[in-house]
Amino acid sequence: MVKRVLIVTLLAALLAVPLALYAQEDNLPELILAARPGYHPEGIDWDAERGVFVTGSLTEGGVFTVADDGTVTPLAEGHEGLSSTGVHVDAERNRVLVAMPDFSAAQNPEAPGAAALGAYDLDTGEELFFVDLSDLDEGRDFGNDVTVDADGNAYLTTSFSGVIYVVDTEGNGEVFLASDDFAVQGFGLNGIDYHPEGNFLLVAVSGAGAIYKIPLDAPEAYTQVELEVPVSIDGMVLYEDGNLYAVASVDGAQAREVVVLGSDDDWASATILSRQETQADLSPTTLAMRDGAAYVVHAKFASIGSDPPVETFEIQRFTFEDLTSAGEPAGAGAEGGMTAAHGEELVNTRCTVCHTRERIDAANKDRAGWEATVDRMISYGAQLTPEEREAVLDYLTGGD
Ligand code: HEC
Repeated sequence: MVKRVLIVTLLAALLAVPLALYAQEDNLPELILAARPGYHPEGIDWDAERGVFVTGSLTEGGVFTVADDGTVTPLAEGHEGLSSTGVHVDAERNRVLVAMPDFSAAQNPEAPGAAALGAYDLDTGEELFFVDLSDLDEGRDFGNDVTVDADGNAYLTTSFSGVIYVVDTEGNGEVFLASDDFAVQGFGLNGIDYHPEGNFLLVAVSGAGAIYKIPLDAPEAYTQVELEVPVSIDGMVLYEDGNLYAVASVDGAQAREVVVLGSDDDWASATILSRQETQADLSPTTLAMRDGAAYVVHAKFASIGSDPPVETFEIQRFTFEDLTSAGEPAGAGAEGGMTAAHGEELVNTRCTVCHTRERIDAANKDRAGWEATVDRMISYGAQLTPEEREAVLDYLTGGD
């Protein structure tokens, strides 16, 4: 898979074509290839005001914006020895909050680790504050994800000890809540988000497959959200539709999926409303919500430090049609119901990643010829399930 990705990347670069695919119905790009060699974004959020994604970087630290054409622009510099993981766009205060760990602590259990938080102006990148919280608690730190409440207080999870830090708008930090329930072997506390109406936090303890609800006015009275099966969440967004969108592994599986959870009892319990497979080899970590679609970022852990570095990083769209029933995960990389989609839409989206539609229209082939071509494109990296390949062939050969 990694090799295939490199080929796609090279071809895309060689052919120098627009890298954003626009879905016909809603004009949202299906795939963005964030082009900054070796930068390995792990956290992402959507800045609706400027129409760009905001990401961190495991290798460089700091903050970057990503435009729909894949252009990556540095917004703010990082701090020596620190990565940047979770990012949270605080539109109301025109700033982005950034969680910062020492990434080497993920591999080295002896390293004390770090948990720092930075806040940056979304227009200028100016650092509004930077605070290192590592010494507030004795445990090992790994600053992972961040969210903000109605008053602008930021909450930072740290993964190797059961601690959540809070930082006010001036940059003063303290321990918000520490609990053995949150402290598990390996990565514990992970994704976090805030529920504005309920004034509570939802926080994932990924190592335990658990989600906790923490009321801000009585944090010690936190409760575990009742789930049918364990859901190990990495990154997550509590969206304006009231559902929780997450990149997660379900029921102890290795695979990572985009999972949507809903609750009808104010997060005393939750059920899975949707599951879609992701490209697990590319290390999907978290997602940003943009106009109802989820955009998943891929950190590509396996190729951190590779020579040559990975050229681009996929930010892939997932859409959701029916959020009332839970099922088995839909096909890899596909949108819900995509398999039934028309061949024409598939050609317009999946076949125009590396070259334009004209190139396809210029060709005149019989079915065998198209089969050979489409299979060659798949070997280059075109993303089609067997059913989608059939739909594309039917369309290209004039049938349907
Ligand atoms: C991963 C990048 C990539 C994707 C995705 C892709 N192509 Fe291509 N395509 C190429 C490259 C590179 C060439 C030129 C080299 C070649 O023809 O083998 C090409 C050439 C072509 C050609 C002209 C050559 C010929 O055999 O007539 C056609 C037609 C074509 N592609 C159709 C498609 C169709 C249909 C799809 C979707 C199923 C698709 N491509 C998806 C990379 C891609």
